[in-house]
Amino acid sequence: MSLEKLNDVIAILNEYDNNPSKLIPILQKVQQKYNYLPQDAMTFVANSLGIAPSKVYGVATFFSHFSIVPKGRHIIKICDGTACHVKKSEGIINAAKKRLNLTDEKHTSGDFMFTLECVSCLGACGIAPVAVVDEEVHPQMTPEKITALIDAVYAKEKANA
Ligand code: FES
Repeated sequence: MSLEKLNDVIAILNEYDNNPSKLIPILQKVQQKYNYLPQDAMTFVANSLGIAPSKVYGVATFFSHFSIVPKGRHIIKICDGTACHVKKSEGIINAAKKRLNLTDEKHTSGDFMFTLECVSCLGACGIAPVAVVDEEVHPQMTPEKITALIDAVYAKEKANA
């Protein structure tokens, strides 16, 4: 583990007084920092809290909001629930995959800028088809709109680089 990562994880552990009962918020903070839970960070957390690494791994894989594989800086969720599906969400998913060069197995772009997640219902069927980009809800999505949204995020990233 790099020294920088080590210091980050130690700071998070200190924030929670190295308290084993705070394992979930500690993992949440680690994930916030890295967009996923790196294996070495999980092992360090386990050892620091006196918890078996297998238990930490078990928690990390039990809750769906944790990821043990690297994710992109930006998360795109496209709904493919019934209401969105009948309004052609498949075309939107395919447009996002094409723009980001993704496949059914590859959900994160090669530059780790985006991760695409297909979800079953976002609870906003009245504005179907729906996409959520970094927690922002976008109604009446189209293949053109999702491509433009991705381009806009890339342009913003480039401007801030
Ligand atoms: S089915 Fe897409 S929001 Fe409900």
